[in-house]
Amino acid sequence: METIIDVKGLCKTYIVNKISNNVLRNVDFSLHEGEFVSIMGPSGSGKSTMLYTISGMDRPTAGDVTFLGKNYNEINDKEMAKLRLLSMGFIFQQMYMMRKLCILDNILLPAYHAGIEDRKKVREEAEMLMRRLGIMETADNGITEVSGGQLQRACLCRALINHPKVLFADEPTGALNSKAADEVIGELVRVNRDGTAILMVTHSARVAAGSERVLYFVDGHIEGELQLGKLQDEADLTQRERQLNKWLMTM
Ligand SMILES: Nc1ncnc2c1ncn2[C@@H]1O[C@H](COP(=O)(O)OP(=O)(O)O)[C@@H](O)[C@H]1O
Ligand SMILES: [Mg+2]
Repeated sequence: METIIDVKGLCKTYIVNKISNNVLRNVDFSLHEGEFVSIMGPSGSGKSTMLYTISGMDRPTAGDVTFLGKNYNEINDKEMAKLRLLSMGFIFQQMYMMRKLCILDNILLPAYHAGIEDRKKVREEAEMLMRRLGIMETADNGITEVSGGQLQRACLCRALINHPKVLFADEPTGALNSKAADEVIGELVRVNRDGTAILMVTHSARVAAGSERVLYFVDGHIEGELQLGKLQDEADLTQRERQLNKWLMTM
């Protein structure tokens, strides 16, 4: 299978008040076409930094990140921004959205930034995504006029509007109750089935149980890896969550 992201010897060091903090220490990792990988690990172990560095939001201190053959050390900020806009989607625990725009316009924004000319077509596409994620009725609402679960599903529509190769998710269910979290993980599994690779950071074994491979981070490196295989049937989630919890106890 095609490798989308290849990470070799990745290091990230932050220097604060002249003290250096080696947040990522020599990480090797690959993400392949259509994979769904979770990253777990204690708070402060570098999970978000890993996600931000391999999605080009932040630059590596040392090592190589290659996305579809493009090495981040060899492209400038403008090329990086373009790569992110056209080939990557993002969702976050905080669900950043523009306050002054309605839900539909928030979803359309990355398409407009990408210079899509056929506005009617992209609008239809946004509406199709919203229908698929069950939030069509929120199209004209303001971002404070929907539930947390609806808002995260809207963020997911926005992340998918430019047909990314990879979806990056940083604790996407961290602000949701368990029912809304289950719905979001169900949507992620479907998005992945449709071919989008996903790299997700989560604290929740329940959420990670929907993915096919789990990495465990400790002090900025990968301490262990569990293969769960693709989720075939949502009825298997509970058993997979149990298997994952058992493994996490050994970490
Ligand atoms: N922009 C930054 N500047 C300085 N230190 C940072 C920055 N971002 C993260 N850190 C530090 O890096 C470490 C790992 O943080 P993070 O990647 O957010 O961990 P996690 O997501 O696993 O909780 C923490 O010690 C944090 O304080
Ligand atoms: Mg984090």
